[in-house]
Amino acid sequence: MAKFFSLKNFTALSDLHPNMANLKIIGIVIGKTDVKGFPDRKNIGSERYTFSFTIRDSPNHFVNVSSWGSEDYIRSLSDNFKVGECVIIENPLIQRKETEREEKFSPATPSNYKLLLSENHSMVKVCSPYEVDTKLLSLIHLPVKESGDYYSLADIVANGHSLDGRIINVLAAVRSVGEPKYFTTSDRRKGQRCEIKLFDETEPSFTMTCWDNESILLAQSWMARETVIFASDVRINFNKFQNCMAATVISKTIITVNPVNTIVNVYTVEQLKVKALKHEGKADPFYGILYAYISTLNIDDETTKVVRNRCSSCGYIVNEASNTCTVCNKDSSRFKSFFLSFDMLVDLTDHTGTLHSCSLSGNIAEETLGCTINEFLAMTSEQKTKLKWQLLLERSKIYLKLILSHRARGGLKVTILSCKLADPTEASRNLAGQGHT
Ligand SMILES: *[C@@H]1O[C@H](CO)[C@@H](O)[C@H](O)[C@H]1NC(C)=O
Ligand SMILES: *[C@@H]1O[C@H](CO)[C@@H](O)[C@H](O)[C@H]1NC(C)=O
Ligand SMILES: *[C@@H]1O[C@H](CO)[C@@H](O)[C@H](O)[C@H]1NC(C)=O
Repeated sequence: MAKFFSLKNFTALSDLHPNMANLKIIGIVIGKTDVKGFPDRKNIGSERYTFSFTIRDSPNHFVNVSSWGSEDYIRSLSDNFKVGECVIIENPLIQRKETEREEKFSPATPSNYKLLLSENHSMVKVCSPYEVDTKLLSLIHLPVKESGDYYSLADIVANGHSLDGRIINVLAAVRSVGEPKYFTTSDRRKGQRCEIKLFDETEPSFTMTCWDNESILLAQSWMARETVIFASDVRINFNKFQNCMAATVISKTIITVNPVNTIVNVYTVEQLKVKALKHEGKADPFYGILYAYISTLNIDDETTKVVRNRCSSCGYIVNEASNTCTVCNKDSSRFKSFFLSFDMLVDLTDHTGTLHSCSLSGNIAEETLGCTINEFLAMTSEQKTKLKWQLLLERSKIYLKLILSHRARGGLKVTILSCKLADPTEASRNLAGQGHT
């Protein structure tokens, strides 16, 4: 197994204070800006470059890091990592932040400090997700704002002009991710734009626009009708041309993908089936927590396929016969960027019944199985059987997304958003009765 970076070997962001020497911190990147160039006042005719990002190492602590320097240095630093990856930073400069002025343009951070990277003294290393504490990885699903602090799309539409220009939080599902468009402005600057359509149970379609490459890149990994986002600090505007309200991702915005902590209702299998019946006719998903165990997991059966190719552009499964992505229509001879991903169906059982064929895929499957896809592919079938029996019949806390679908078994398409061993006292307290219907 891979080397492990434990959080205790690093200085916590909550303990930062100026003049710390030989500082070494670790964090997951939760926001990042594009590289920008500015005329250098000290060196007329040349440009200085900058970009910044935000890292987090615990639910309550995150800090803004910025770097200035030559174009080569800044671009190579920025190209190294993207949102969702973990970085180790050595010897950054710690500075007190000037709250009001800076938070106008950057994410509001709880820390009193900000970090500055210098080309000569600081170092940034990117670490693989399999080397770092899972506590750090799970932060990527934790919104930076109170999980109840958001507007529904209908609230935004209903408030109309009174929200024009306001900066608010939105929780919604992704309906579609548009193709990025590139253009040149009248003053010959390059620009880009990508339109995302969102929806929730109150509103079928709502536009959110990204204007920077980093958020466009992030959005390209979202899956239509699969991904849920908690977007903190997006700007709301009234769009005069389309005569409707719309959101814009700005440099303050931090987007949390699949924020499982907004899911709070606990159900039994039976209650979920009843809820699905009541949900009849609705197209929007519903969510819940289930204390259950995996009762079928075919990972050691040669006849069942558990790994598939996905398109790295849209995340959809590549058609195996034609070797093309039916969503992007990019054929493999021109576009080879596919990646291997877990894609399996498991059964979940509790004392009231079984939910069949629940989808467990991608990173969530890797986290559940505790191994990467490459480690899995290298296993012998005996090792796979052993892994299976480690997981089967272990009581887990499982976050689910459910959508009614005629094509799915039992009329219900169930997707696992997270599956972790349950804390026994918490599980028995929840099994003792209540639950929602
Ligand atoms: C970080 O702070 C700098 C100013 O110190 C600001 O320019 C930048 O936009 C901020 N960005 C992020 C992503 O934190
Ligand atoms: C970094 O180091 C180089 C060479 O040692 C030096 O010329 C340059 O001025 C230093 N830059 C900064 C910002 O200190
Ligand atoms: C954004 O990406 C496009 C296409 O890759 C590139 O031409 C442009 O320079 C990028 N803009 C920034 C600000 O990085």
